[in-house]
Amino acid sequence: MYNLTDRNIVLGVTGSIAVYKAVDLASKLTQARAVLNTIMTPEASKFVAPITFQGVSGRRPYWDMWDANNDLAEAHIALARQAELLVIAPATATVIARLALGLAEEMVSLTALATRAPLIVCPALDSQMFEHPATQEHLDTLRSRGIQIVGPEEGRLASGQVGRGRLSEVDTIIGWIRHVLGKDGDLAGKKVVVTAGGTHEAIDPVRFVGNSSSGKMGFALAEAARDRGANVVLVSGPSALPDPVAVEIVRVRRAAEMRDAVIAGCADADILIMAAAVADYQPAETVRDKIKRRQSETLSIPLVPTPDILAEVGVRAGLIKVGFAAESQDLLENARQKIEAKHLDLIVANDITASDAGFATDNNRVVILDRGGRKEELPLMPKYDVAWHILDRIVSLLAGKKSQPEA
Ligand code: PMT
Repeated sequence: MYNLTDRNIVLGVTGSIAVYKAVDLASKLTQARAVLNTIMTPEASKFVAPITFQGVSGRRPYWDMWDANNDLAEAHIALARQAELLVIAPATATVIARLALGLAEEMVSLTALATRAPLIVCPALDSQMFEHPATQEHLDTLRSRGIQIVGPEEGRLASGQVGRGRLSEVDTIIGWIRHVLGKDGDLAGKKVVVTAGGTHEAIDPVRFVGNSSSGKMGFALAEAARDRGANVVLVSGPSALPDPVAVEIVRVRRAAEMRDAVIAGCADADILIMAAAVADYQPAETVRDKIKRRQSETLSIPLVPTPDILAEVGVRAGLIKVGFAAESQDLLENARQKIEAKHLDLIVANDITASDAGFATDNNRVVILDRGGRKEELPLMPKYDVAWHILDRIVSLLAGKKSQPEA
């Protein structure tokens, strides 16, 4: 959660039953070490007592703009100036209208009018209110001012009806917060192509050659690159993970499809990171009908190599290529061979014999090797943190390339 550390975020909470999710949002942002101030409308304080936000964020919320005991002289102006980002979640139809019209009737709309920080608005309202032309026009007005609207989502609403009006999930809102706060990061203006997951090479209509890669490592890399300001294209094999926020995702099945998507993405990319566990072999042909089981017979399936994607991308000046090496023996030796054979700038060696790291785990333990033989051993840590370390190394390579005279 590095790009949230010490960032000054103001959370505006308005009167909707979805306020309970805002408590979770406040808690997660605080755990990510953001400096979180909460402001509430009087209606929001009827759904959840302000002290709840104090409990999770460690800071007293502001909800009464007439409170003479506020520790900030003019709370809305002080918070508006300090804020690096104002997030309004949940945002009711009334508050959306106030924002569009510039009405400053309570702490949330008042602060929104006073701040020059970016604004994220996460509507939560009944679907009929959401669809009403008045609300739609107000949302269009907010979008035209560059305000990021997140959601609402489709689903069951407080009225018992199913429709579009639910507050987005907390992790989705946090994804947008990280993206907006990361826009000026050290990868701003760079295009990064990341691959994730395994590939499925079809044997027949129901069976495939594949592996247990979950996509977690590649998705973490895509999110971390986004959080540092990059434009990210994520090419993923089959994975149950949801699309990351503010990342262009291309979902593929086979190695050949992944190759096509990677080559297309790399035409104008600055960085390629291949975290995918691409199947090394595919059936020589895919059988059209499901293969029948016959008790007395063994079954042999001829396999041929899949395209070597890293090799096919080739070497291009200005493209940094990073590979992974998943090894169960001779980790460093095999990784060193791959850095040469695949013409990589860095390789991330992944010992897959440990049960707490590698495939389908939340954490990873890797060694990063460069062409000069330098190695950096990272202890077990969440895959997002591993991704951040790998990107640190890539940023250093970019800085080195910039300082080198043109050939
Ligand atoms: O998805 P997770 O569950 O989070 O698991 C993450 C991971 C363990 C899959 C990941 O961290 C990892 O190690 N990925 C690389 C796995 C792998 O296929 O390694 P390899 O040594 O077989 O391949 C070396 C490199 O060549 C890799 O960058 C691979 O993407 C690339 N490759 C492989 C085969 C192929 N046909 N084309 C390629 O470009």
